[in-house]
Amino acid sequence: MNYKIALIRGDGIGPEIVNEAVGVLDKVGEKFGHTFTYVDVLLGGCATDAVGKSYPDGTAEVCKSCDAVLLGAVGGPKWGSDKPAEQRPETALLAIRKDLGLYANLRPAALRPALAEACPLKKETAEKGIDLMMVRELTGGVYFGKRDRYDTLDRGVECTDLMAYSEMEIERIGRRTFEMARLRRKKVSSVDKANVLETSRLWRSVMHRLAEEYPDVAYEDVLVDNCAMQLVRDPGQFDVVVTENMFGDILSDEASMITGSIGLLPSASMGDTAPALYEPIHGSAPDIAGQDKANPIATILSVAMMLRYSFQLAAEADAVEQAVDKALADGWRTADIAKPSETVVGTRQMGQIIRDNI
Ligand code: IPM
Ligand code: MG
Repeated sequence: MNYKIALIRGDGIGPEIVNEAVGVLDKVGEKFGHTFTYVDVLLGGCATDAVGKSYPDGTAEVCKSCDAVLLGAVGGPKWGSDKPAEQRPETALLAIRKDLGLYANLRPAALRPALAEACPLKKETAEKGIDLMMVRELTGGVYFGKRDRYDTLDRGVECTDLMAYSEMEIERIGRRTFEMARLRRKKVSSVDKANVLETSRLWRSVMHRLAEEYPDVAYEDVLVDNCAMQLVRDPGQFDVVVTENMFGDILSDEASMITGSIGLLPSASMGDTAPALYEPIHGSAPDIAGQDKANPIATILSVAMMLRYSFQLAAEADAVEQAVDKALADGWRTADIAKPSETVVGTRQMGQIIRDNI
């Protein structure tokens, strides 16, 4: 089969890590008899520098002509919040999510066996293992609600950000979550703030309706503040966690931290139609850009997710994940995950080691 992939290399370490992931895809192609072809798509701060806006016209169309999208990382201090919206990389990220209809963001957080000691939690807690899937709603809520800024007579400037959710939006992310749970340990924890927010009360009622349709899946409601606490107290209790956009933004950073290295975690964003978008959870790390120091594993594992979810190539995805685990088990470390006594390899060498393991 031939698969066409849009590459958004992006800013900072983005180009370096995408290079390694592309090398891995090519190795998979060679080994399993597939061809991957690539289309470069300019997006993020590099696009602002090149054409004056972070989300050039036609970006969504080019992506839609591909079978999947791979994104390195976008952003950096050069294009900060003092810049006009159309120049900020974050604007492009939100726009592409919306334009491709990527409402379901899957962020797995698992402790990899070779790195169990990197877990910052108590040893007893780490020993129970962590293997959870955070499902974040990605195209609704306060991220996309109406914003306003106006003067008041007695309180200076006032701003509002509207959080809105419809039953349709909640139901489709809910269904994905229950389907996902069926393929895992069959437990859904739905996170909300139903003791305060009306959107959360609607969220909860829709999730309860779905829970009845999936009697084989265990279901619980968890308030967001409690979830933040449980994630550090006893993360082993979670299988699939589903939540709205902003809660998911915050909790997914927390979930990634407890696994010990954000440099290892992939993600997938999908809608009802192709292409889905795959990207590492970490950012563009401008401080180490261009120095062959970045950890390419999260991007390489994002490619494994692409093989699994967009192309239904499970054996190929397994091969990539096993190649990563072998590299780690053999003691290879990039700087972000190395202990003082361990030998450090660079981005390119780590990529090469993983390719050789496939
Ligand atoms: C993420 C990021 C983005 C988000 C930012 C960069 C807009 O934090 O993907 O989690 O908040 O969604
Ligand atoms: Mg975030």
